[in-house]
Amino acid sequence: MDNQMIIASTLDELRAARLLLDGRVGLVPTMGYLHEGHLSLARRARAECDRVVATIFVNPTQFGANEDLSKYPRNLKGDLSLLESTGVDLVWTPDNETIYPPGFSTWVEVEGLTKPLEGAARPGHFRGVTTVVAKLFNAVQPQVAYFGQKDAQQAAVIRKMARDLNFPIKIAVCPTVREADGLAMSSRNSYLSAEERQSATVLFRALTAAKDAFERGEQNAEALRKIMSNTLASEPRAQIQYVSCADYDTLEELGMVTGKALLSMAVFMGKTRLIDNFVIG
Ligand code: PAJ
Repeated sequence: MDNQMIIASTLDELRAARLLLDGRVGLVPTMGYLHEGHLSLARRARAECDRVVATIFVNPTQFGANEDLSKYPRNLKGDLSLLESTGVDLVWTPDNETIYPPGFSTWVEVEGLTKPLEGAARPGHFRGVTTVVAKLFNAVQPQVAYFGQKDAQQAAVIRKMARDLNFPIKIAVCPTVREADGLAMSSRNSYLSAEERQSATVLFRALTAAKDAFERGEQNAEALRKIMSNTLASEPRAQIQYVSCADYDTLEELGMVTGKALLSMAVFMGKTRLIDNFVIG
């Protein structure tokens, strides 16, 4: 077990391999097409846990009807070799029928926190995320599960789900890994044309401008939202879906920033939807 990474596809294979893992198990759930952001989660799990399990599953229920499910990028062979070189012990690559058996009708839904931001822009998205993550938690039974701050609302929603459903699992959130020019790494960056890729740095620039203003004393949330939208508007290829300055815990839009706050945005760069965020305060 120490050197060789086990690859399980069926649930029975996963369970048999999981039984052989002793000690503290860390789980890294992914949809594949792995980059340094995903691998930073796996490395942190490797450092903190006795055993590391990763999952690769492009979860159809978290994609909207007009979203990119059918063209979501895949590279299973490359992903497996990256996970192996990161020291992952076990990878589960379930198929759709395993996760959603015929007649599937049981959903996990977190109320409240899922309403604004990504929840408003992508109806049903979080129901798909929480349902699949609950199923991954049940199947793998980790002690710790690792998520990225890149998807800040997702991490908050999963933490709430774990608490509400009494999963005995610690939720660890890891910093956003960025390209040298500030663009947050994402599997979806592969959709960008060369020109769009250049323009995509505008998300980081907009967040940085708002953070700088906050650090110079600007506490008015609407002013910070305006700084972000003005910066985004300076890039003709960027179409704003939302910009937000919200309470870090409730994700409700703020009037004044007096404590921890989340600056976040969703922006279409051509057909590609990008999200990013900073924490301030
Ligand atoms: P996916 O987009 O593949 O991301 C898997 C994990 O990697 C998530 O926790 C995400 O926040 C984290 N991640 C992505 N880009 C990152 C970056 N640049 N820096 C740090 N972490 C990053 O998120 C999902 O898949 C799915 O919703 C999933 C949780 C697997 C459920 O289907």
